[in-house]
Amino acid sequence: MSHSASAMAPVADDSAVVDIRDLWTVYTSAEAEFVVHKNLNLRIARGEVISLVGGSGTGKTTLLRQILGLETPSRGQLTVLGQPPSHMGQRGAASRVGMLFQHGALFSAFSVLDNIAFPLRELKTLPDDLAYDAALVKLQMVGLEAKHASKMPSDLSGGMVKRVALARALIMDPPLLLLDEPTAGLDPESSDGFCKLLRNLHQELGLTVVMVTHDLDTLFELSTRVAVLAEQRVIVAASPQEVVRYQHPFIQDYFWGERGQRAMQLLQTPSAATSSAAT
Ligand SMILES: Nc1ncnc2c1ncn2[C@@H]1O[C@H](COP(=O)(O)OP(=O)(O)OP(=O)(O)O)[C@@H](O)[C@H]1O
Ligand SMILES: [Mg+2]
Repeated sequence: MSHSASAMAPVADDSAVVDIRDLWTVYTSAEAEFVVHKNLNLRIARGEVISLVGGSGTGKTTLLRQILGLETPSRGQLTVLGQPPSHMGQRGAASRVGMLFQHGALFSAFSVLDNIAFPLRELKTLPDDLAYDAALVKLQMVGLEAKHASKMPSDLSGGMVKRVALARALIMDPPLLLLDEPTAGLDPESSDGFCKLLRNLHQELGLTVVMVTHDLDTLFELSTRVAVLAEQRVIVAASPQEVVRYQHPFIQDYFWGERGQRAMQLLQTPSAATSSAAT
Protein backbone atom coordinates (compact mmCIF):
# COMPACT_ATOMS: atom_id res chain seq x y z
CA MET A 1 0.00 0.00 0.00
CA SER A 2 1.85 3.05 -1.18
CA HIS A 3 0.63 6.45 -0.11
CA SER A 4 2.87 8.27 -2.56
CA ALA A 5 1.38 6.34 -5.47
CA SER A 6 -2.16 7.19 -4.43
CA ALA A 7 -1.13 10.82 -3.98
CA MET A 8 -0.02 10.93 -7.62
CA ALA A 9 -3.11 9.23 -8.96
CA PRO A 10 -6.39 10.48 -7.53
CA VAL A 11 -8.04 7.21 -8.48
CA ALA A 12 -7.99 4.72 -5.61
CA ASP A 13 -5.45 1.99 -5.15
CA ASP A 14 -6.59 -0.45 -7.80
CA SER A 15 -5.32 -3.53 -6.01
CA ALA A 16 -8.57 -3.33 -4.06
CA VAL A 17 -11.63 -4.56 -5.92
CA VAL A 18 -13.80 -2.30 -3.79
CA ASP A 19 -12.37 0.66 -1.91
CA ILE A 20 -14.66 2.74 0.26
CA ARG A 21 -13.31 5.69 2.18
CA ASP A 22 -15.16 8.01 4.52
CA LEU A 23 -18.45 7.32 2.83
CA TRP A 24 -21.59 9.12 3.95
CA THR A 25 -25.14 8.38 2.92
CA VAL A 26 -27.68 10.97 3.95
CA TYR A 27 -31.33 11.00 2.94
CA THR A 28 -33.03 14.34 3.25
CA SER A 29 -36.75 14.82 3.57
CA ALA A 30 -38.74 17.99 4.09
CA GLU A 31 -38.38 17.83 7.89
CA ALA A 32 -35.20 15.93 8.61
CA GLU A 33 -31.90 14.49 7.58
CA PHE A 34 -31.46 10.78 7.96
CA VAL A 35 -27.88 9.57 8.16
CA VAL A 36 -27.48 5.94 7.10
CA HIS A 37 -23.68 5.78 6.74
CA LYS A 38 -21.21 8.10 8.39
CA ASN A 39 -17.47 7.84 7.71
CA LEU A 40 -17.78 4.27 6.57
CA ASN A 41 -14.56 2.59 5.46
CA LEU A 42 -14.15 -0.78 3.80
CA ARG A 43 -11.57 -2.21 1.47
CA ILE A 44 -12.18 -5.50 -0.29
CA ALA A 45 -9.35 -7.40 -1.92
CA ARG A 46 -9.52 -9.69 -4.92
CA GLY A 47 -10.79 -13.17 -4.17
CA GLU A 48 -12.43 -12.34 -0.86
CA VAL A 49 -15.87 -13.51 0.13
CA ILE A 50 -16.93 -10.80 2.50
CA SER A 51 -20.20 -10.89 4.39
CA LEU A 52 -21.93 -7.72 5.50
CA VAL A 53 -24.00 -8.09 8.63
CA GLY A 54 -25.94 -5.51 10.58
CA GLY A 55 -29.42 -4.85 11.90
CA SER A 56 -32.32 -4.11 9.59
CA GLY A 57 -32.01 -0.63 8.12
CA THR A 58 -28.28 -0.26 8.75
CA GLY A 59 -27.73 0.31 5.04
CA LYS A 60 -26.45 -3.02 3.75
CA THR A 61 -28.57 -3.05 0.61
CA THR A 62 -27.84 0.64 0.09
CA LEU A 63 -24.11 -0.09 0.18
CA LEU A 64 -24.47 -2.85 -2.43
CA ARG A 65 -26.52 -0.51 -4.63
CA GLN A 66 -23.77 2.08 -4.35
CA ILE A 67 -21.11 -0.47 -5.32
CA LEU A 68 -23.24 -1.39 -8.31
CA GLY A 69 -23.64 2.27 -9.25
CA LEU A 70 -27.41 2.44 -8.79
CA GLU A 71 -26.97 5.04 -6.06
CA THR A 72 -24.31 7.62 -5.37
CA PRO A 73 -23.01 8.22 -1.84
CA SER A 74 -23.60 11.69 -0.42
CA ARG A 75 -19.92 12.11 0.42
CA GLY A 76 -16.67 10.18 0.41
CA GLN A 77 -14.96 7.95 -2.08
CA LEU A 78 -16.10 4.66 -3.50
CA THR A 79 -14.25 2.88 -6.27
CA VAL A 80 -14.74 -0.47 -7.93
CA LEU A 81 -11.65 -1.81 -9.68
CA GLY A 82 -10.13 1.64 -9.37
CA GLN A 83 -13.08 3.58 -10.81
CA PRO A 84 -16.16 5.23 -9.35
CA PRO A 85 -19.15 3.10 -10.42
CA SER A 86 -20.81 6.16 -11.97
CA HIS A 87 -17.93 6.37 -14.48
CA MET A 88 -18.41 2.86 -15.78
CA GLY A 89 -21.52 3.28 -17.88
CA GLN A 90 -24.21 0.62 -18.07
CA ARG A 91 -22.18 -1.81 -20.10
CA GLY A 92 -19.01 -1.31 -18.10
CA ALA A 93 -20.88 -1.82 -14.87
CA ALA A 94 -22.49 -5.06 -16.05
CA SER A 95 -19.15 -6.51 -17.11
CA ARG A 96 -17.55 -5.61 -13.78
CA VAL A 97 -20.26 -6.23 -11.22
CA GLY A 98 -23.06 -8.79 -11.08
CA MET A 99 -25.79 -8.53 -8.48
CA LEU A 100 -28.30 -10.93 -7.04
CA PHE A 101 -30.98 -8.66 -5.59
CA GLN A 102 -32.60 -9.15 -2.18
CA HIS A 103 -36.00 -9.68 -3.73
CA GLY A 104 -34.29 -11.00 -6.83
CA ALA A 105 -37.30 -11.52 -8.96
CA LEU A 106 -36.98 -12.73 -12.51
CA PHE A 107 -39.04 -11.15 -15.25
CA SER A 108 -42.19 -13.24 -14.93
CA ALA A 109 -43.18 -12.91 -18.58
CA PHE A 110 -39.78 -14.13 -19.83
CA SER A 111 -38.54 -17.69 -20.04
CA VAL A 112 -35.52 -18.83 -18.06
CA LEU A 113 -33.24 -18.39 -21.07
CA ASP A 114 -34.65 -14.96 -21.91
CA ASN A 115 -34.08 -13.88 -18.33
CA ILE A 116 -30.45 -14.97 -18.38
CA ALA A 117 -29.74 -13.51 -21.81
CA PHE A 118 -31.52 -10.24 -20.98
CA PRO A 119 -28.47 -8.09 -20.05
CA LEU A 120 -26.60 -9.17 -23.19
CA ARG A 121 -29.56 -8.54 -25.46
CA GLU A 122 -30.36 -5.22 -23.86
CA LEU A 123 -26.80 -3.97 -24.24
CA LYS A 124 -26.65 -5.45 -27.75
CA THR A 125 -23.17 -6.78 -27.14
CA LEU A 126 -23.73 -9.93 -29.17
CA PRO A 127 -26.04 -11.17 -31.92
CA ASP A 128 -29.08 -12.87 -30.37
CA ASP A 129 -28.05 -16.43 -31.21
CA LEU A 130 -24.71 -15.97 -29.48
CA ALA A 131 -26.42 -14.31 -26.51
CA TYR A 132 -28.63 -17.38 -26.14
CA ASP A 133 -25.62 -19.70 -26.44
CA ALA A 134 -23.90 -17.76 -23.67
CA ALA A 135 -27.07 -17.96 -21.57
CA LEU A 136 -27.19 -21.74 -22.00
CA VAL A 137 -23.60 -22.04 -20.81
CA LYS A 138 -24.47 -19.99 -17.73
CA LEU A 139 -27.58 -22.09 -17.09
CA GLN A 140 -25.41 -25.18 -16.88
CA MET A 141 -22.80 -23.37 -14.84
CA VAL A 142 -25.37 -22.79 -12.08
CA GLY A 143 -26.26 -26.47 -12.08
CA LEU A 144 -29.45 -26.47 -14.15
CA GLU A 145 -30.08 -28.69 -17.13
CA ALA A 146 -30.78 -27.28 -20.57
CA LYS A 147 -34.32 -28.71 -20.44
CA HIS A 148 -35.25 -25.93 -17.99
CA ALA A 149 -34.32 -23.20 -20.48
CA SER A 150 -37.80 -22.72 -21.87
CA LYS A 151 -39.62 -22.84 -18.53
CA MET A 152 -41.32 -19.78 -17.09
CA PRO A 153 -40.30 -18.44 -13.66
CA SER A 154 -43.62 -19.49 -12.14
CA ASP A 155 -42.74 -23.11 -12.92
CA LEU A 156 -39.50 -23.03 -10.93
CA SER A 157 -38.74 -23.85 -7.30
CA GLY A 158 -37.29 -21.12 -5.05
CA GLY A 159 -33.82 -22.60 -5.35
CA MET A 160 -34.05 -22.70 -9.14
CA VAL A 161 -35.16 -19.06 -9.27
CA LYS A 162 -32.06 -18.10 -7.27
CA ARG A 163 -29.87 -20.11 -9.64
CA VAL A 164 -31.38 -18.47 -12.72
CA ALA A 165 -30.96 -15.03 -11.15
CA LEU A 166 -27.34 -15.93 -10.42
CA ALA A 167 -26.79 -17.04 -14.02
CA ARG A 168 -28.17 -13.67 -15.15
CA ALA A 169 -25.87 -11.81 -12.74
CA LEU A 170 -22.87 -13.69 -14.17
CA ILE A 171 -23.79 -13.42 -17.86
CA MET A 172 -21.04 -10.87 -18.61
CA ASP A 173 -18.43 -12.67 -16.50
CA PRO A 174 -18.00 -9.90 -13.94
CA PRO A 175 -15.09 -10.34 -11.52
CA LEU A 176 -17.23 -8.97 -8.66
CA LEU A 177 -20.47 -10.55 -7.48
CA LEU A 178 -22.86 -8.90 -5.02
CA LEU A 179 -25.39 -11.08 -3.22
CA ASP A 180 -28.20 -9.63 -1.12
CA GLU A 181 -29.61 -12.36 1.12
CA PRO A 182 -28.87 -15.15 -1.39
CA THR A 183 -30.42 -17.93 0.69
CA ALA A 184 -33.37 -16.07 2.23
CA GLY A 185 -36.61 -17.96 1.77
CA LEU A 186 -34.96 -21.22 0.74
CA ASP A 187 -35.50 -24.46 2.64
CA PRO A 188 -32.36 -25.77 4.41
CA GLU A 189 -31.57 -28.26 1.66
CA SER A 190 -31.82 -25.74 -1.21
CA SER A 191 -29.95 -23.24 0.88
CA ASP A 192 -27.16 -25.73 1.39
CA GLY A 193 -27.05 -26.54 -2.32
CA PHE A 194 -26.92 -22.87 -3.25
CA CYS A 195 -24.15 -22.30 -0.76
CA LYS A 196 -22.09 -25.11 -2.30
CA LEU A 197 -22.69 -23.68 -5.75
CA LEU A 198 -21.46 -20.26 -4.63
CA ARG A 199 -18.39 -21.80 -3.09
CA ASN A 200 -17.55 -23.70 -6.28
CA LEU A 201 -18.12 -20.68 -8.50
CA HIS A 202 -15.98 -18.56 -6.22
CA GLN A 203 -13.14 -21.01 -6.63
CA GLU A 204 -13.56 -21.80 -10.30
CA LEU A 205 -14.07 -18.26 -11.50
CA GLY A 206 -11.83 -16.52 -8.98
CA LEU A 207 -14.70 -14.21 -8.08
CA THR A 208 -14.69 -11.56 -5.41
CA VAL A 209 -17.97 -11.80 -3.53
CA VAL A 210 -19.75 -9.29 -1.31
CA MET A 211 -22.71 -10.87 0.41
CA VAL A 212 -25.38 -9.62 2.77
CA THR A 213 -26.77 -12.45 4.81
CA HIS A 214 -28.70 -13.14 7.99
CA ASP A 215 -28.11 -16.84 7.47
CA LEU A 216 -25.29 -17.72 9.84
CA ASP A 217 -24.69 -21.16 8.31
CA THR A 218 -24.08 -19.52 4.94
CA LEU A 219 -21.98 -16.83 6.57
CA PHE A 220 -19.64 -19.24 8.35
CA GLU A 221 -19.54 -21.60 5.41
CA LEU A 222 -18.46 -19.02 2.83
CA SER A 223 -16.94 -15.90 4.36
CA THR A 224 -13.26 -15.16 4.33
CA ARG A 225 -14.13 -11.97 6.24
CA VAL A 226 -17.14 -10.50 7.95
CA ALA A 227 -17.83 -6.76 8.05
CA VAL A 228 -20.23 -5.56 10.74
CA LEU A 229 -22.34 -2.46 10.13
CA ALA A 230 -23.34 -0.63 13.30
CA GLU A 231 -23.24 2.97 14.46
CA GLN A 232 -23.52 4.00 10.80
CA ARG A 233 -20.15 2.53 9.86
CA VAL A 234 -18.18 -0.69 9.64
CA ILE A 235 -17.19 -1.30 13.26
CA VAL A 236 -15.06 -4.34 12.45
CA ALA A 237 -14.05 -6.27 9.34
CA ALA A 238 -12.08 -9.40 10.11
CA SER A 239 -12.17 -13.18 9.98
CA PRO A 240 -15.34 -14.79 11.35
CA GLN A 241 -13.33 -16.12 14.30
CA GLU A 242 -12.13 -12.63 15.20
CA VAL A 243 -15.45 -10.92 14.61
CA VAL A 244 -17.40 -13.17 16.95
CA ARG A 245 -14.97 -12.24 19.73
CA TYR A 246 -15.22 -8.50 19.10
CA GLN A 247 -16.81 -6.74 22.05
CA HIS A 248 -19.97 -4.99 20.89
CA PRO A 249 -23.60 -5.41 21.97
CA PHE A 250 -24.79 -6.07 18.43
CA ILE A 251 -22.21 -8.80 17.91
CA GLN A 252 -23.00 -10.30 21.29
CA ASP A 253 -26.70 -10.61 20.39
CA TYR A 254 -26.15 -11.60 16.81
CA PHE A 255 -23.57 -14.33 17.18
CA TRP A 256 -23.97 -15.45 20.77
CA GLY A 257 -27.75 -15.75 20.87
CA GLU A 258 -29.27 -19.22 20.62
CA ARG A 259 -29.36 -19.20 16.82
CA GLY A 260 -25.76 -18.03 16.65
CA GLN A 261 -24.46 -20.69 19.04
CA ARG A 262 -25.86 -23.39 16.80
CA ALA A 263 -24.30 -22.02 13.63
CA MET A 264 -21.03 -21.30 15.35
CA GLN A 265 -20.39 -24.98 15.79
CA LEU A 266 -19.30 -24.68 12.15
CA LEU A 267 -16.44 -22.52 13.34
CA GLN A 268 -15.07 -25.37 15.43
CA THR A 269 -14.05 -27.04 12.20
CA PRO A 270 -11.58 -25.16 9.97
CA SER A 271 -13.29 -22.43 7.95
CA ALA A 272 -14.93 -23.90 4.89
CA ALA A 273 -13.90 -20.84 2.93
CA THR A 274 -10.25 -21.72 3.39
CA SER A 275 -10.45 -25.50 3.24
CA SER A 276 -13.23 -26.12 0.80
CA ALA A 277 -11.18 -28.46 -1.38
CA ALA A 278 -11.96 -31.09 1.23
CA THR A 279 -15.63 -31.45 0.28
N1 LIG B 1 -34.09 6.24 -1.45
C1 LIG B 1 -34.22 6.31 -0.12
N2 LIG B 1 -34.77 7.40 0.47
C2 LIG B 1 -34.87 7.48 1.81
N3 LIG B 1 -34.45 6.54 2.66
C3 LIG B 1 -33.91 5.45 2.14
C4 LIG B 1 -33.75 5.26 0.74
N4 LIG B 1 -33.15 4.06 0.52
C5 LIG B 1 -32.95 3.53 1.74
N5 LIG B 1 -33.41 4.35 2.70
C6 LIG B 1 -33.31 4.11 4.15
O1 LIG B 1 -31.99 3.79 4.44
C7 LIG B 1 -31.93 2.80 5.48
C8 LIG B 1 -31.09 1.65 5.02
O2 LIG B 1 -31.82 0.85 4.09
P1 LIG B 1 -31.28 -0.52 3.53
O3 LIG B 1 -32.33 -1.07 2.66
O4 LIG B 1 -29.94 -0.29 2.92
O5 LIG B 1 -31.12 -1.37 4.86
P2 LIG B 1 -30.67 -2.88 5.04
O6 LIG B 1 -29.50 -2.87 5.97
O7 LIG B 1 -30.48 -3.53 3.73
O8 LIG B 1 -31.92 -3.50 5.81
P3 LIG B 1 -32.57 -5.01 5.71
O9 LIG B 1 -31.69 -5.89 6.56
O10 LIG B 1 -33.90 -4.84 6.33
O11 LIG B 1 -32.62 -5.42 4.28
C9 LIG B 1 -33.37 2.44 5.79
O12 LIG B 1 -33.77 3.13 6.94
C10 LIG B 1 -34.13 2.91 4.59
O13 LIG B 1 -35.44 3.29 4.94
MG1 LIG C 1 -31.45 -5.03 2.70
